[in-house]
Amino acid sequence: MTKAFKSAWPYLRKYKRGVLLGLGALILKDIAGAGIPLLVRSGIDAVTNKQPLSTLYWFCLGLVGVSLFKGLFQYWMRVILVGISRDVEYDMRNDIFRNLVRLNHDFYSRYRTGDVMARATNDLNAVRMMLGPAVMYWAETSLTFILALSIMFTVDWQLTLWALTPAPVVSVVVMVFGKRIHDRFEAIQELFSDISSRVQENLAGVRVIRAYVQEDAEIARFEELNKRFIAQNLKLATLSGLFMPLLQALIGLTFMLVLGVGGLRLMQGKISLGSFVMFNTFMGMLVWPMIAFGWVVNLMQRGKASMSRIQEYLQQEPSITAPAHPKAMPETADIEFQAAGLSFEGRAVLDGLALQIPAGQTIAIVGRTGSGKSSLVQLIPRIYDVTSGAVLIGGVDVRELDPADLRRQIGFVPQETFLFSSTIAENIAFGVESATDEEVREAAAIAGLAHDIEEFPDGFQTKVGERGITLSGGQKQRTAIARALLRKPKILILDDALSAVDTITEERILHGLRNQSGSRTTILISHRVSTVRDADCIYVLDEGRVVERGTHAELIATGGYYAELHQKQLLEEELEQI
Ligand SMILES: Nc1ncnc2c1ncn2[C@@H]1O[C@H](COP(=O)(O)OP(=O)(O)OP(=O)(O)O)[C@@H](O)[C@H]1O
Ligand SMILES: [Mg+2]
Repeated sequence: MTKAFKSAWPYLRKYKRGVLLGLGALILKDIAGAGIPLLVRSGIDAVTNKQPLSTLYWFCLGLVGVSLFKGLFQYWMRVILVGISRDVEYDMRNDIFRNLVRLNHDFYSRYRTGDVMARATNDLNAVRMMLGPAVMYWAETSLTFILALSIMFTVDWQLTLWALTPAPVVSVVVMVFGKRIHDRFEAIQELFSDISSRVQENLAGVRVIRAYVQEDAEIARFEELNKRFIAQNLKLATLSGLFMPLLQALIGLTFMLVLGVGGLRLMQGKISLGSFVMFNTFMGMLVWPMIAFGWVVNLMQRGKASMSRIQEYLQQEPSITAPAHPKAMPETADIEFQAAGLSFEGRAVLDGLALQIPAGQTIAIVGRTGSGKSSLVQLIPRIYDVTSGAVLIGGVDVRELDPADLRRQIGFVPQETFLFSSTIAENIAFGVESATDEEVREAAAIAGLAHDIEEFPDGFQTKVGERGITLSGGQKQRTAIARALLRKPKILILDDALSAVDTITEERILHGLRNQSGSRTTILISHRVSTVRDADCIYVLDEGRVVERGTHAELIATGGYYAELHQKQLLEEELEQI
């Protein structure tokens, strides 16, 4: 438990003053609470001692006053302490998100989105409950216990001891059940993560599911998971269901003891009627703390489990970070791969690559699927880091640059385009806050998107739906190209980004790109000869190695993979024209 609080301490520390104020209110509230039975005792004893009625009235008035005082501080206690727990939740949620955004591909290949979502919502809430209500009730009940027991001890220690006999049993019950409840709760959170992941994947892939008529199969699989989730929850409910009556039986036993033994001592004249009633009032006051104690233990256990799940995320360090003293971004954008190698879990994907791309040139990469093309270009903006060798820009190793500086200079259109569920204009201007309408329009024009946008009902303000679902494949790709162009990058990388547009549109886009390229270095990846034929140099990749290099004409003359590809595509074109 202390470990969970230690992890939460950096968050709580900020609100130290508030916590102290809240605890102050809590102490005052508890003291006032303990005063109530004392007033009741004095009131009753005054009546039994035949004191004037006005004395009783004064006690009644005192009771009202103390209750009001108690109520006021109870209010402040709640407002302050629960408020702080919300503040901590806010800070923690921000931290989780900040860290998630910083993390690299290796994290996202290990954790599923649904799992991430579950931790950022359910677990965070459990931690808040631990830091807020649980701590508050724990402090409140502990203090109530101490105050009530001290008063009870001074009034009649023997009766107090009787009243306390069931207490050890209560502790054992709470501890045994607490552990079990904790274990079950953890199992439930794990399952909840699974469910979230399933839903998230299913929603994202809803078109595939429909196309493969997998709705029923998916529903059945979901039902199965859901059933397990409910079964676990039922198990938890059974435990809690047992726990509560057991606790109440023990409390009933305590009442019985106080009533029996206390009554006897009253008749023997060992305590006054006032004290007898006071004992019963205190017992009444202690019922809630006893129940709350079990609940608090429960909340603490849950919070602890959730805290460690959240910590697991917060402790993740991005594998690709800025160096301590990053070098300034070089002016020229020539790119050099020096014996660059990349492996994933020991499997080499790129092997001793040596490429030199002079600034301002357009080079192209072709090769079989899985030959390492996407991996190669992802080394440039440091989406991956080389596992051997180096990648240099303007003569500087990319690992010596600040990734943010580096990436600002690169317009990267990944193989799988991703659009946000906002307008086309916002998608194009993503990451460039200062972009004017004119710039957006210009980028869209070069990307060959202008004509399509004219046809849309709201033009640039058309919403594209989640992931751009309302756009065609080619429109999505061109929006992504426009996004990359808008930042006027020194390096432009198009990873198969024209695969979904027809050859005529492609020709137009490539022409537009060439016209405004200037000193920009461009890398094109494609499976189509038409995309790459005009490049200054074409590289053919196979199993992570460059197997052919040269211009279109040179490669055709050599007669290798490229020449074969060219031949095949010519044939296809001819066949289409028939
Ligand atoms: N994150 C990753 N973890 C493990 N292996 C990976 C990862 N990314 C790519 N690979 C592997 O690296 C190899 C090269 O993949 P890459 O995406 O670079 O191929 P590609 O040439 O772009 O293929 P395509 O033409 O189909 O896009 C593949 O065998 C792939 O399985
Ligand atoms: Mg690829």
